[in-house]
Amino acid sequence: MSVNWALPFEEKIFPKDKSNLIDVKTYIELHRKTVDNFKEFWARVAKELPWFKLWDQVLDDSNPPFYRWFKGAEINASYVCLDKHISTWRKNKIAFIWEGEPVDAKGMPKEIKKYTYHDLYKEVNRISYMLKTKFNLKKGDTVGIYLPMIIELPMFMLALARLGVIFTMVFAGFSSDSLASRLEDANAKMLITADGFWRNGKIVQLKNIADEALNKVSNVKDVIVLKRLGSNVTMKNGRDYNFDDLMNDIPANVYVEPVRVRSEEPLYILYTSGTTGKPKGQVQGVGGYLVLLHATMKWAFDIRDEDVYWCTADIGWVTGHSYTVFGPLMEGATIMMYEGALTYPDPSRWSAIIERYGINILYTSPTAIRGFMKFPKEIFKKYDMSSVRLMQSVGEPINPEAFRWMYDVVGRNEIHFGSTWWMTETGGLLSGHFPGLYTVPMKPGTNGMPLFGADLEVVDENGNPQVPEQRGYLVIRKPWPGLSLTIWGDPDRFIQVYFSKFKHYYFWTGDYAVRDRDGYFWILGRADEVIKVAGHRLGTYELESALIQHPAVAEAAVVGVPDEIKGEVPVAFVTLKQGYTANEKLANELNNWIREKVGPIATLKNVLFVSKLPKTRSAKIMRRVVQAVAVNKPIGDITTLEDETSIEEVKKAYLEFQAELAKRSDPKNSN
Ligand code: WT7
Repeated sequence: MSVNWALPFEEKIFPKDKSNLIDVKTYIELHRKTVDNFKEFWARVAKELPWFKLWDQVLDDSNPPFYRWFKGAEINASYVCLDKHISTWRKNKIAFIWEGEPVDAKGMPKEIKKYTYHDLYKEVNRISYMLKTKFNLKKGDTVGIYLPMIIELPMFMLALARLGVIFTMVFAGFSSDSLASRLEDANAKMLITADGFWRNGKIVQLKNIADEALNKVSNVKDVIVLKRLGSNVTMKNGRDYNFDDLMNDIPANVYVEPVRVRSEEPLYILYTSGTTGKPKGQVQGVGGYLVLLHATMKWAFDIRDEDVYWCTADIGWVTGHSYTVFGPLMEGATIMMYEGALTYPDPSRWSAIIERYGINILYTSPTAIRGFMKFPKEIFKKYDMSSVRLMQSVGEPINPEAFRWMYDVVGRNEIHFGSTWWMTETGGLLSGHFPGLYTVPMKPGTNGMPLFGADLEVVDENGNPQVPEQRGYLVIRKPWPGLSLTIWGDPDRFIQVYFSKFKHYYFWTGDYAVRDRDGYFWILGRADEVIKVAGHRLGTYELESALIQHPAVAEAAVVGVPDEIKGEVPVAFVTLKQGYTANEKLANELNNWIREKVGPIATLKNVLFVSKLPKTRSAKIMRRVVQAVAVNKPIGDITTLEDETSIEEVKKAYLEFQAELAKRSDPKNSN
């Protein structure tokens, strides 16, 4: 979403808790020192982790951009998250509070479960044991996870990590095609999935979707099926195993020694969208990742033992990996995990959850907040949310209205509430307000300051620092722990996508940013053609290639247009093959097609038919031009455009669509 950065906020807010407040100048000076000595700085942080073996070298930067942190060190994520705690008083502390979506007649949740660190430790050991003895899984294997928000999801992540098995989680809202391509790319030998789950009061039959995907791939040999719904699903003999049957004969007290994983070896692969090509498998190395999570859990979330912490993201996205599972577990936190929609069965479900468990720290997204804002404040304010002492937002720029609304309704206009910038590739957050360390006064809408030890900068086209108040590109000049190791199976693409825009091996984030005259960072949105729908990243390419697989479609250009709640939504402009007629029926059919091929998050706001699309002379579709028309902005330089009448075509289609919308929302036309 492009935000007009000159407008939103000017005020600075001084939260009630001023204990760690410092002025911007001092912050910048301290920050500079950490960046100048970034290796020593991160080594100092890393010493706080329980390594099996310390590193020989803090950072191997001999082969940029393939940076290897804490080379020679050995660690295990499952050990850091579990074993470390169970030898202390935290053994009987609650690790997860889990609440299922369904409610009874009184609106109360039907299922609430609590798991202590010891419970989790025992279950994870049992699952590890089962995977090791029955499937012979070992270090370096890859396994796919396609699970909803059930407690076995973090258990499996930890059990696989315990064995050094690399997992790749696919968000349960993705389609069978998306699942299949990821399983295939990662060469997963096993898939862990479930019969189905509850979402918004409806049942999603996950196993059916998984089966469709499995029909398309040959590398997956074994499938473990969890019964969330207890329903009968078709099981393929010799391939599918019922989780409960597999666990039946596993003793309660088995112990699996955590495999010693080298710091620079992978923990997981997580696929993200870009502008071109299929989704990229980001490979996250274990050691650096855990160091970054440890630092940011303390600095951005100020996590303390007495807290109940809730990150509302689905674990299928990176936010959930880092800040629902690994980050809070390694800090020994009590974590809220909720299965379903935040606004089911009524809009205030999330407020009820905050009240029920006395949530202290809340990590959520602008899209979620804008969804709540449709309803009167009173329905939320009747819940006691005074336990919340710190909030952070993530995923997209936060607009002033959403900030103010949430700050009032939950924040009592007095707590810390910042916006943390990061991306899948960075492993953890790198910019924000850091109340657990030193924080500058809150400037809402901004992304605060770069994290200590992270060399973020706004640069111009040539990679030189941009003047304050001028828009530039957000880059990261030095490696940081948490940086993706590579793109799975495609190291050249890793260089090309992230390290080739600027000569000096700066990491290219793809975001526009501004540093304001006070020194605060504003991340303005994507400079490339990535669309952020409800904070989720969608590549225009993925949507277009799905569309052109439809027999009626000749060409397609997908662009993002602003949306009141989701921030941005995709609109498709398509040209048809001969013999097909443009009509509403076909538009709906194409939309269903996209939902099937990619998933419901890719639902198009509209399909607009045109007779031609603007293209360069080298026949590349000029998405930038289409986008400008769709958001009614100046079209800019069109010297490379082959046929100018194509713009008129796109404009006409868009105007007709607007007129149609106006007609539909006019009460005179409803019957
Ligand atoms: C893109 C990365 C990282 C967790 C979720 C998204 C945008 C993320 C912010 C923020 C403005 C933000 C950027 C970034 N973004 N957080 N606080 N303010 N923009 O991860 O799916 O990899 O997306 O999300 O555009 O490049 P992701």
